[in-house]
Amino acid sequence: MSEGAAKKEERRKFQAIKGTRDLLPPETALWNRVERIAQEVFTSYGFGEIRLPIFEQTDLFARSIGAETDVVSKEMYTFEDKVTELPSPRPFFTPRGYTPALEEAFQANPGFNTPENRRRLALLKDHLSTLEQAEVRRDAKASSAAYDHYVAVLETILQGDRVSLRPEATASVCRAYIEHNMQQLPQPVKLYTIGPMFRRERPQKGRYRQFYQIDAEVLGGSDAPGIDAELIEMVMTFFKRLGSEGVELDINSIGDKQCRPKYVELLRAELRKVKDKLGPDSQRRIETNPLRVLDSKLENEQKLIGGMPHIADHLCEECAENYRGVKKELELRGVKYRENWRLVRGLDYYSRTTFEITAKGLGSQNAVCGGGRYDGLMELLGGPPTRATGFAIGEDRLILSLQEAGKRPAAKGRDVYIAWMGEKAYTKAVQAAKNLRAAGFSVELPPVEQKFGKALGQADKLGARYALILGDNEVASGEWTLKTLATGEQAKFTEPTLLDFLQENNAV
Ligand code: HAM
Repeated sequence: MSEGAAKKEERRKFQAIKGTRDLLPPETALWNRVERIAQEVFTSYGFGEIRLPIFEQTDLFARSIGAETDVVSKEMYTFEDKVTELPSPRPFFTPRGYTPALEEAFQANPGFNTPENRRRLALLKDHLSTLEQAEVRRDAKASSAAYDHYVAVLETILQGDRVSLRPEATASVCRAYIEHNMQQLPQPVKLYTIGPMFRRERPQKGRYRQFYQIDAEVLGGSDAPGIDAELIEMVMTFFKRLGSEGVELDINSIGDKQCRPKYVELLRAELRKVKDKLGPDSQRRIETNPLRVLDSKLENEQKLIGGMPHIADHLCEECAENYRGVKKELELRGVKYRENWRLVRGLDYYSRTTFEITAKGLGSQNAVCGGGRYDGLMELLGGPPTRATGFAIGEDRLILSLQEAGKRPAAKGRDVYIAWMGEKAYTKAVQAAKNLRAAGFSVELPPVEQKFGKALGQADKLGARYALILGDNEVASGEWTLKTLATGEQAKFTEPTLLDFLQENNAV
């Protein structure tokens, strides 16, 4: 690099990473309002807040969201956790040489020496001994199988050492429920959490790589339809309190592990019949996950997909009964919904009820909330069988739709700008600023002396409502001058009467 180029590089301005952004005032006031209303509404339904780490073991997400989903296979930010260093199995990898090195590393890293890993180490030793016996017998097939088993267990150990930024919150909430034995609390446990999530997606309007979710989960208890319906009622109440416009709710039931596999096979068979007429993505999904074909937005696939069998006609009696119950409960609560048999969601853990909420003004990324029931997930993560349901609101999209509807808060200026001149006046001004702030007013106190004219100009620019003028005369007489900037009116007050006046005329 030439010297000039190096200097230029040194002076290069940094920019936020693609897909991330800064949220600035006054927009942050709207974010705070949205979060405050969520907290109020959720609290009124008995939810408590949980705060979670923003990174977890990669395996937690792979197991819950599904290793084959887009979120896990393409979009996670994953990195090695350097806290625990395991010897690399490469480049001289033989199970015989590696196992003792691994055992030694376990002893040296208490953080890694977990019951789960000790169990895996014991398994590795089993596979190693099977491998050695097969080699003695010169049984190539058995030794290759034992080698594969060994590698598979080793991969899970090495995976455990990798961490990912969370792409969503549900997996972490379940991990926390199990870790803190929340099944011993009165059920169901209702939790909400608000914070950033990370997915490496192609950024566009309403789609970011760091985005924010407001997430709520109901864990434990029964699968009574009233639980799903109350949860949906809660999120619709939240949207209503915010004044969101054009909010629409789509619901579906995707069955459970009894009836869904049969439907999936039927769908696959029907899709295969029209395979040649579908695009490459859908063609691939016929084999990997035919339900996702129903999600296709491609214009030329719509007619064909429209002719596919509906899952509602293939639910087992229990799931059908449950779905009828959810719809009845929604009607009871006056929640308007649209049934959408093609709503399948992109994460693997769902069963039965799924739902999505769209809002106006968002273009193609118009889903502001997605959720559903996920009864099998807790067991998949090693917890007790636990029924659960929940949703996550995309806060960035919600804010966008509120802004599009003209619901942006006006920038709030200061209540009082203190224009002071002189050393004595400054002492008074510092005290007055403290007292007014303690009474709840927003106060600007310039740190250096300015001519009154300049100070008043500055007060104007900051959108201040009043200027408090403190000069030698005011300090000597104990009567302070308050100027209303919009009208130019001035009035004199003593310190206590000033506070009374402001409290009467400027709701804090
Ligand atoms: P999800 O549908 O993947 O579900 O995400 C929920 C919402 O997060 C979406 O409807 C959308 O508003 C927002 N969102 C997702 N990705 C992005 C992005 N890249 N940029 C901006 N907003 C985005 C879940 O995450 C589940 N955990 C919901 C859940 C909770 N199900 C049960 N409990």
